[in-house]
Amino acid sequence: MQLSILKCISCGKEYALTDVRFTCMCGHLLDVAHDVHELKKKFRLSKKYFNGKRATIHNQPSGGVWHFGELVLPSVKEKEIVFKQEGNTRLHQSKKISSWLGLRHFYLKHEGENPTGSFKDRGMTVAVTQAKRLRQKAVVCASTGNTSASLAAYASEAEMTGLVLIPKGSVAVGKISQALAYGAKTLIVNGDFDDCMRLIFEAQEKLQAYPLNSINPFRLEGQKTIVWETLQQLGWKVPDWFVFPGGNLGNTSAFGKALHEASELGLIEKMPRFAVIQAEGASPFYRAFKDGFKELRPQKAHTIATAIKIGNPANYTKAIRSLQWTNGIVESVTDNEILEAKAHVDGAGIGAEPASCATVAGLKKLIENGIVKPKETVVGILTGNILKDPQAIVDYHIEKHGELANPPVDIEATIEEVKRFL
Ligand code: F0G
Repeated sequence: MQLSILKCISCGKEYALTDVRFTCMCGHLLDVAHDVHELKKKFRLSKKYFNGKRATIHNQPSGGVWHFGELVLPSVKEKEIVFKQEGNTRLHQSKKISSWLGLRHFYLKHEGENPTGSFKDRGMTVAVTQAKRLRQKAVVCASTGNTSASLAAYASEAEMTGLVLIPKGSVAVGKISQALAYGAKTLIVNGDFDDCMRLIFEAQEKLQAYPLNSINPFRLEGQKTIVWETLQQLGWKVPDWFVFPGGNLGNTSAFGKALHEASELGLIEKMPRFAVIQAEGASPFYRAFKDGFKELRPQKAHTIATAIKIGNPANYTKAIRSLQWTNGIVESVTDNEILEAKAHVDGAGIGAEPASCATVAGLKKLIENGIVKPKETVVGILTGNILKDPQAIVDYHIEKHGELANPPVDIEATIEEVKRFL
């Protein structure tokens, strides 16, 4: 076997890495499959090897995603890589949030600290690099916002035409602003995210445009590094749980693959468990989980967490595999639970956009239901930056006066007025 190939997750049919295709002839999605044992031998991969590498070198694809380049895109040449030093995100600890949750060992990995403010950059550096290697001229995506922001920035860097399809009225203002500002052609589709996704499949087939959604397996290779970087930050001590939001289920798929490969490489001795959190109004994966994954029943999605307002997740089958590898579970939370959790994450001085806070809302529920135990070590993933969705903050604190609202106060320009608030 070559070091890396494209391989169907269902029938196992293999394709060259240079094939421009995203689904197998049988219709299922493709993996970038690595011969991890050969890679281990070739690069002498070990915990020590990764610990010994310099974290970040100025102007080089090092640190973050490319710290693990040997397991992401081993055949790439350094000069081919389109990068913005993505990754290297912090692992926050907050006494306030931990005590609200009732957990002793709780970490928040903040992917909103990436160059365009979300985890998408980790996947984008790899997929745009691959697009460039394949001499693609135009890249496209359907997006609930963050993918479009990230695509726009990386397409600009790679000097490619960027085209983004976003659902009308369902994308936060920070994200649309980024797509426009970075120079992508932004098409506002009269439909929902699932309609946009359908158009992307068609565009790939009929227009030969290169999709950068998470159906692109190179995106998921980059997103695997969220898990490896966390493990390295924890001294390779495996937490009991990884908790994160699920929308199109790209992260669920990528994180499972990361752990499966880490286990094959002997980097970890045990598997953590996954808890994937969905918004109640956009929870086809949760419903399928409850039904023993008999079938996926797509739904018309509704939630305040627009990033995960998805009713027909494209990575459904890969995500099931990840849950099998990690004895994983799926939980759902209401919009009010998301907003309450967000007020706690924001109020701790960390902050994240609503979809990210589904992580913390779901975790709260799992602790209350006795599924996650107070003594267990938990890593929650915050997927996007607080400034992505300022309207959600204004609504909570000013318009609708949520339970933890902190509205501003108008005063006269006198020191007595200021003193009243000290
Ligand atoms: N959190 C945020 C902030 C997101 O932007 C997304 C997905 C998710 C969670 C869900 O991740 O799809 O891997 O399950 N946003 C995509 C977009 C769909 O277009 O920006 P997933």
